[in-house]
Amino acid sequence: GSDGSDATAPDAIDVLLDGLSTLEYRGYDSAGVALANGELDVYKAEGELESLTSTLPTGSLRDPAVGIGHTRWSTHGPPTDTNAHPHTDADERVAIVHNGIIENYRTLRDELEADGVTFESETDTEVVPHLIASYLGSGDGDDRMGERDRGDRERAFRRAIDRLEGSYAIAAVFEGDETVYATRKESPLVLGLEGDSSGEAPERASGYFLASDVPAFIEHTDRVVYLEDEEFVRLDSSGWEVSDSDGNALEKAVQTVDWDADDTGKSGYDHYMLKEIHEQPSSLRQCLRGRVNELQGSVTLEELDAVVEQEFASPVQFVACGTSYHAALYAASLLQQEETPATATIASEFTTDRVPVNDGSLVVGITQSGETADTLRALREANRAGATTLAVTNTVGSSAARAADHALYIRAGPEIGVAATKTFASQQLALLLLSVALTGRSSHDDIQSLRRVPDQVQTILDTSSARAIAAELVDSQAFFFIGRGMHHPVALEGALKFKEITYEHAEGFAAGELKHGPLALVTEDTPVFAIVTGDGGTARKTISNIKEVEARDAPVVVVTDGVSDVERYADHVLRIPETDECSAAVLANVQLQLIAYWVANEMGRSIDKPRNLAKSVTVE
Ligand code: G6P
Repeated sequence: GSDGSDATAPDAIDVLLDGLSTLEYRGYDSAGVALANGELDVYKAEGELESLTSTLPTGSLRDPAVGIGHTRWSTHGPPTDTNAHPHTDADERVAIVHNGIIENYRTLRDELEADGVTFESETDTEVVPHLIASYLGSGDGDDRMGERDRGDRERAFRRAIDRLEGSYAIAAVFEGDETVYATRKESPLVLGLEGDSSGEAPERASGYFLASDVPAFIEHTDRVVYLEDEEFVRLDSSGWEVSDSDGNALEKAVQTVDWDADDTGKSGYDHYMLKEIHEQPSSLRQCLRGRVNELQGSVTLEELDAVVEQEFASPVQFVACGTSYHAALYAASLLQQEETPATATIASEFTTDRVPVNDGSLVVGITQSGETADTLRALREANRAGATTLAVTNTVGSSAARAADHALYIRAGPEIGVAATKTFASQQLALLLLSVALTGRSSHDDIQSLRRVPDQVQTILDTSSARAIAAELVDSQAFFFIGRGMHHPVALEGALKFKEITYEHAEGFAAGELKHGPLALVTEDTPVFAIVTGDGGTARKTISNIKEVEARDAPVVVVTDGVSDVERYADHVLRIPETDECSAAVLANVQLQLIAYWVANEMGRSIDKPRNLAKSVTVE
């Protein structure tokens, strides 16, 4: 889930609802707001934001200037109105929103229940407001907005946070107080400052925003303060203050993010996903900018000079989840091809006990969001084991960028569609750059083929027949994707993209594995997408595998550069420009993105927000 909260803006409710809707891409199953209006007014509803909006009374509500809001992605307890955030104590003295998981909630819940507290929900989060309330003094009479009560509230908030184990970004509002109190640990939280000012803290601004991600308030301001673990922030009409866990005020740098509010709009496309697929030529150019020198035939990754010069004793270890894991597999193949040992591991399966990680290791976490809990855990473990760590990420200032020793930014710009498209392409290209830098391999040909990728992607977008092919195959029973070498991860990613947004059964295989089992599933109702480029040994072998499925009457769709004679065995062809195998893997993927998109579109699926999925999964 994701939360956005704001203070002192004129129409808290509108700002909150707008902010939550820009964070919809993170995926959610219920939503809620709490408005600090003297009393606390809490509204929550299962389902989309519209359900929440329809429960809000009109008119008088427009007054409050302070509120918190949340979209929930269930971790403990199913999506219901009651389990939605904000959660409050029984007397509604405090309301909170929370991202993350409170790991010791059972113990805390037992303790609170023993003291007579009744719980409304099944969430881990609900222990937090009850704990805060249990620490609040009884001074809610004469001194409602007084300093004494405010100190009491902040103390109660801090004492409760002190009891929590796990991960959290938490924002709280109290009855009779127009202040937002917030803190974080292993879950993102960023402060937005609207209005002109020098950036000295504390300061006055015309609006303050707190959110788990910048798009929530980018239409109001691009000036942000990234909060670190265990920092506290207090926002009210007189300003903002960040302090450490002992309450000492901290000086925080105000940064400007270079995102346009427009960048998060759909620019005329029906879906963010299609827009993002079409942005790839420019996002890929952005990834290459200043990093390749055609004359010298070299790659420069300034931020990685220190890493490139280091010698590593053990294989380079890539760790990642989901789509980023497919980028990891691709990266490992790139290095292996240059005789640099490398491995790719699913981050949730990464352990430093079984695979040796030490001060001679390089561990590379690939995560577009920079917030994926499994990947962060792996990076932190690798740090502890003494490894050199590198984050390959799209998000400057993200937890991964900060957790790792070094960061390589893929520069894809914000991606709203839950299904990763342009970020995957930019991961591939950035990893291609990294492999050149690490192995020292580079020739003019390599560099030239790198430079051509953005234009070649444009050619694919201009000429692809994916839409027509999708219309013909939409009624099939299952969809298989095969490839070898560099194209194996592309086949896996093609299938993942497809299942994510069509909800149809799709699987990717190493082309050679098909005959060792999956062939049993192949029939005339199961199209097989095969990636074949060049006309070398790898291509010839994949063509043999294509003949095996053709013999079972499966419709064959080939993604090919047309160099081999594979089209003879194909029912449909998705053409890509001719280039080397490494770059071809970037191009082939674009055709498969389009296939997934057009099939899902034909089926009327919720393409930008597939069921059960979240853009950024900040729990293990
Ligand atoms: C989630 C998303 C996937 C994504 C994965 C890793 O599961 O639904 O699309 O590939 O996280 O995300 P990351 O931000 O670490 O690349």
